[in-house]
Amino acid sequence: MANEIIGSTDLHLYYGKKEALKGIDMSIQAGEITAMIGPSGCGKSTYLRSLNRMNDLIPDVTITGSVMYKNKDIYSPATDTVELRKEIGMVFQQPNPFPFSIYENIIYGLKLKGEKDKQKFDQVVEESLKAASVWEDVKDKLHKSALSLSGGQQQRVCIARVLAVNPEIILLDEPTSALDPVSTGKIENMLLELKEKYTMIMVTHNMQQASRISDKTAFFLEGNLIEFNDTKKIFLNPEKKETEDYISGKFG
Ligand SMILES: Nc1ncnc2c1ncn2[C@@H]1O[C@H](COP(=O)(O)OP(=O)(O)O)[C@@H](O)[C@H]1O
Ligand SMILES: [Mg+2]
Repeated sequence: MANEIIGSTDLHLYYGKKEALKGIDMSIQAGEITAMIGPSGCGKSTYLRSLNRMNDLIPDVTITGSVMYKNKDIYSPATDTVELRKEIGMVFQQPNPFPFSIYENIIYGLKLKGEKDKQKFDQVVEESLKAASVWEDVKDKLHKSALSLSGGQQQRVCIARVLAVNPEIILLDEPTSALDPVSTGKIENMLLELKEKYTMIMVTHNMQQASRISDKTAFFLEGNLIEFNDTKKIFLNPEKKETEDYISGKFG
């Protein structure tokens, strides 16, 4: 499609013999927020992880089909998965800062790349924390442990850590489901601001959240992509009965 940044064709994924993704065709557009909804166990997290090869880390996984990122097959043996995961970063449900200072969390990826310039570190720390709307909260305690922060602040630091390595795509797996409504609101506003620079793909079990912030919504059911369209269309006038039943709360 015209402005595709990443997409899959006939993507199947098996955990042992269990087929968790049953042939997913999906084309994700650059600069959009794409939400993934569906009942627990339908394959949302599995699909998200397949977009930056995080499933490679799980034993006994078999994947067929393709995932194209900027016209390259990420499952080709030539892919450097460490590089790939910098370009396609991931944020998880539970904030998972490293047990170091806030500052060290943010520069972790740069240090891995071999960067040593203290000025560069300072600059990236400030820019990333500002972009993740958490600078004001932490600027006076950058050298305190990230674990001393609230859950919402930790999650924003984790997002800043992803931003610090300059990604193209940010994958978010239920990033606010462990947070209170105020922290959730802050993260939603931040994601809307980040939309200017990044493509985001977000799993959420919160349908209001999907309708508030996403451009497109994908509805998954039992390993299938049932419907994928503009968020307004999915919520106001879905094509498929299963989508309608799910969003009207008949199951899930
Ligand atoms: N590491 C794993 N090993 C085996 N089965 C898994 C693993 N992760 C997920 N599954 C199974 O794959 C299916 C899809 O799971 P998941 O992608 O986590 O769904 P969702 O994120 O939509 O809740 C479920 O049946 C789940 O039990
Ligand atoms: Mg999940």
